[in-house]
Amino acid sequence: MKLLVTGGAGFIGSNFILYWMNKYPNDSIVNLDKLTYAGNLESLRKVENQKNYRFIKGDICDADAVRIAMHKVDLVVHFAAESHVDRSILGPAVFMMTNVVGTQTLLDAALQAKVKHFHHVSTDEVFGTLKLGSKEKFHEQSQYNPRSPYSASKAASDHLVRAYRTTYGLPITITNCSNNFGPYQFPEKLIPLATTNLLEGKKVPVYGEGNQVRDWLYVSDHCRAIDLVVKKGKNGETYCIGGQMDGVTNLQVVKKIAKLLGKDQSAIEFVKDRPGHDLRYAMDWTKIHRELGWKPEHDFDTWLAKTVVWYKQNTDWWKRVKSGEYQEYYQKQYRNR
Ligand code: NAD
Ligand code: TYD
Repeated sequence: MKLLVTGGAGFIGSNFILYWMNKYPNDSIVNLDKLTYAGNLESLRKVENQKNYRFIKGDICDADAVRIAMHKVDLVVHFAAESHVDRSILGPAVFMMTNVVGTQTLLDAALQAKVKHFHHVSTDEVFGTLKLGSKEKFHEQSQYNPRSPYSASKAASDHLVRAYRTTYGLPITITNCSNNFGPYQFPEKLIPLATTNLLEGKKVPVYGEGNQVRDWLYVSDHCRAIDLVVKKGKNGETYCIGGQMDGVTNLQVVKKIAKLLGKDQSAIEFVKDRPGHDLRYAMDWTKIHRELGWKPEHDFDTWLAKTVVWYKQNTDWWKRVKSGEYQEYYQKQYRNR
């Protein structure tokens, strides 16, 4: 089988490529990625020289680049996106371009190339926010209520993907997942930011009072869920994916990381809250569990401890990200190709 992975140089996309190439060594993967600040080919060093892997530097909004990348592809797994809420508040335009126009460009090309399956990776944030302290969870029938430019753009992309199935018959699946964490995550998101700042002896900024709640999903659990959905999921269906945890606040997450690193909590710094900050996300993943047999492999504490160890052992990777040196890698590695 030939896959087109978009955004494969990003956090989840690179974990997915490593996962897939290890599990299905006879498949081939084309990775189409623009290499924005969030794209880091150093995360894919283990596979970059394999014959069944090809990297194409390109923009998903560029119809020609997309058409070339889509050649003879059986399955598209679409991760490419602008993904950071805080950046979407500072500059929404690029979110609309990549997440909406980029997705539509890919959908058109998938139709033309007659790909057998288009899988779209989306977020729980399209459903809005839940009340703190309530037991309510998001599920596949939850109403869309995006509240940030990021989640609004992802909501639009979900609608487009469904519309291309209804209107043109494109075979699709969608997953909406909660906050991911794990190796190779850009240290602008809470868990890698807190971990690497603590390792560097810097302060950890906690927005507001830190009482917001996220449903943390370990990235390899997420990759396994996508694997199940693309292999066994039903055409046109959506599956919600979340972690195994119970209402841990951001402040508690940061305190757990500090404890794992043997640091005291004086490093925690409360800063101005994010405008329109969603209070709580929680996912009901009954459907994917019941229909496809998926569940997280471990609970949050176990995965968090493994993640912190990974950042401790891979200082080179994140120090090069924080210094910006990772961006030179493409030039060095792909100059003569
Ligand atoms: P990321 O920001 O780490 O990576 C995004 C990748 O997309 C980067 O490699 C970047 O270079 C690439 N990209 C951006 N614009 C592009 C364009 N115009 N053309 C081609 N490539 C482009 O993101 P991530 O955390 O790996 O998220 C992957 C997907 O999962 C996104 O669609 C995101 O909305 C979704 N998601 C992420 C999370 C999370 O917690 N990280 C949670 C739910 C859903
Ligand atoms: P983030 O990792 O940006 O993901 P998202 O906004 O998509 O949920 O943030 C996770 C939570 O942590 C969110 O409630 C915002 C909060 N946060 C902080 O308190 N401090 C920080 O420095 C960051 C980046 C996030």
